[in-house]
Amino acid sequence: MATKQITGLPGTTDRRIDALLTLLAENSTIVISGAKIAREIGVTRQQVWRWIEKLRGLGVRVKGHPRTGYHIERVPDILVPQMLSHRLYGTPFARRILHFFKIDSTNSVAMRLGQSGEPHGTLVVAEEQTAGRGRAGRSWSSEKSAGIYSSILLRPPISPAHAPLLTLVAGLAARDAAAEDLDAQPDVRWPNDLLVNSRKFCGILTEMHAEPDRIHYAVIGIGLNVNQTKMPAELADRATSLRIETHRMHSRFELLIRLLRCLDRYYNQFLADGATPIIRRFAEVSTYFKGKRVRITTANESFTGTTAGLEPSGVLRVTRDDGRGIVPILSGDVAEAS
Ligand code: BTN
Repeated sequence: MATKQITGLPGTTDRRIDALLTLLAENSTIVISGAKIAREIGVTRQQVWRWIEKLRGLGVRVKGHPRTGYHIERVPDILVPQMLSHRLYGTPFARRILHFFKIDSTNSVAMRLGQSGEPHGTLVVAEEQTAGRGRAGRSWSSEKSAGIYSSILLRPPISPAHAPLLTLVAGLAARDAAAEDLDAQPDVRWPNDLLVNSRKFCGILTEMHAEPDRIHYAVIGIGLNVNQTKMPAELADRATSLRIETHRMHSRFELLIRLLRCLDRYYNQFLADGATPIIRRFAEVSTYFKGKRVRITTANESFTGTTAGLEPSGVLRVTRDDGRGIVPILSGDVAEAS
């Protein structure tokens, strides 16, 4: 049964640690006795003590000890499934949430869950990734508890030809959610890189298992740089984080809630009304929609041109500089050209 597979997945955060964190966070103003915690989450007081020590090791500030009781000093910005689930009530993302303190890649986990029949809306989140994957075989820097590393399993009733729209939907959701944390307007570089002050702070990797006419499942992997104080040297000229841009800390928890709520809205709009409102919104918020000078790099070639809107399938149109007309860009890297 699906639930069994989920709870047994190696590395998933024990649901009782999740319950412990939720209990402490929801009672942050009072001291709760070790005995009460033990009773509520169904473990021994010794086990409560061991888990509190583990949480302290992860930077969660818990005061107290088994005899007097415990009290959390500050609600930690951990993507705790039980609390996420409460706040996502009414969306498909509230039902199945898997949390990892450390995992290779949330996309890899979500793809396996897709294969094993887990439902639409399954959400995988991690505090840290050891092999975060980006587009075109690149890696995604995933510093512990600094960013949002999450993957969403979808079972969209659409053909693979419309998959680029799914990617746009996710990019728009992340853009709207992040805009509230920024002082400058974020830009969307087709298909779904988010930029602020011309530097990237969010990337999306869509993977899927499909037949020519139907998608079995798709995984939308979202990497969002939130509280990194500096980016790795090799990325520093083109990557940034919300904190670097605004000089303040941001709540990953609140941002992820907003993002998933926006995703729910755009996704439903897309299924109900098709591509038009999605493309219209992209045109409103992306300087890459039309008239942008770009360099396109695909697996086979690299050329310059000017963007000329999107096709109804969400594919980018570019007027080539070499006189070969307007071409559709199905995949590839888009960079601003001078
Ligand atoms: C890109 O811009 O190249 C896409 C980056 C996508 C990164 C995210 S982080 C969560 C999910 N798990 C992964 O391994 N990759 C995606």
